[in-house]
Amino acid sequence: MGTDVYLLGHEAAEDQRLVRQSQEMAGEASWLFDQLDLPVGARAIDLGCGPSGVLEQLSVRVGSSGTVVGLERGGDTLARARAFVAEHGLHNVELIQGDARATGLPPGSFDLVHARLVLVNVPRPEEIVREMVALARPGGVVASHEADYLPHRCDPPCAAWDRLFELFHAHSRDHGIDLFVGRRSHRLLREAGLTDIQVRPLIHVYPKGHPRREIFVHFIQNVRAELLEAGRIEAKELDNLMTELVAHLAREDVLVISHMFFQVWGRKPNQAG
Ligand SMILES: C[S@@+](CC[C@H](N)C(=O)[O-])C[C@H]1O[C@@H](n2cnc3c(N)ncnc32)[C@H](O)[C@@H]1O
Repeated sequence: MGTDVYLLGHEAAEDQRLVRQSQEMAGEASWLFDQLDLPVGARAIDLGCGPSGVLEQLSVRVGSSGTVVGLERGGDTLARARAFVAEHGLHNVELIQGDARATGLPPGSFDLVHARLVLVNVPRPEEIVREMVALARPGGVVASHEADYLPHRCDPPCAAWDRLFELFHAHSRDHGIDLFVGRRSHRLLREAGLTDIQVRPLIHVYPKGHPRREIFVHFIQNVRAELLEAGRIEAKELDNLMTELVAHLAREDVLVISHMFFQVWGRKPNQAG
């Protein structure tokens, strides 16, 4: 319960998925940054940046006179982020290994503090939000892009999906992870002291051929060993469920509904209190 896990692990395959996902989400991230008036020369940080996050987009926006910090806890993932930054020649990006709950960076030192899909994967998300707000300068912006599992189902329904979701939900809950944090991310930001909070919801469908159609299958694969180790299910039954799910998703007539995503942003007041 008290252990601070990252739900989806740090395998190379998971990081490759994250890089592809960042490319797919580039348009949404651009839309968000367009709302924030981030000037050239600004100082921005992406907490839990993963292997690429929004580093490239922020790098372009702040320009050569600005700075982008990418902070990531996982050592292997950080190494992949370093390779990404070198490969893309992002000279204004600095990468740091650290914990988004307690970065050790000077408070009030960023014009923009951003985190995407971090809160939905960790326990005690409010601690990360508090650090986000602390890192923003007075008058600076904090922005979040989070998921909520509510609509993430398929139609026609699939008993294997429902059973696997039950297992995934129980596993997450036992680690203190809220799969439905997206809907309350606005509240977390507000409670941490932000004002002028704005919310944009996003939802997608993943028809056959969509790159994110099998995301739930990947998530179950990522936690497979832990589900077995915790005795939540026998390997044979899990494998049967996965076979059933994959076969269902291979059907042309099955539509997958995405998570609900919440882009939420707000301003740190100029005056404390
Ligand atoms: C789903 S990934 C999202 C990566 C990236 N933000 C993106 O949108 O592509 C979540 C990332 O947050 C990182 N993470 C989780 N908890 C963290 C913490 N306490 N401090 C720093 N990074 C953390 C994980 O290691 C992982 O790389």
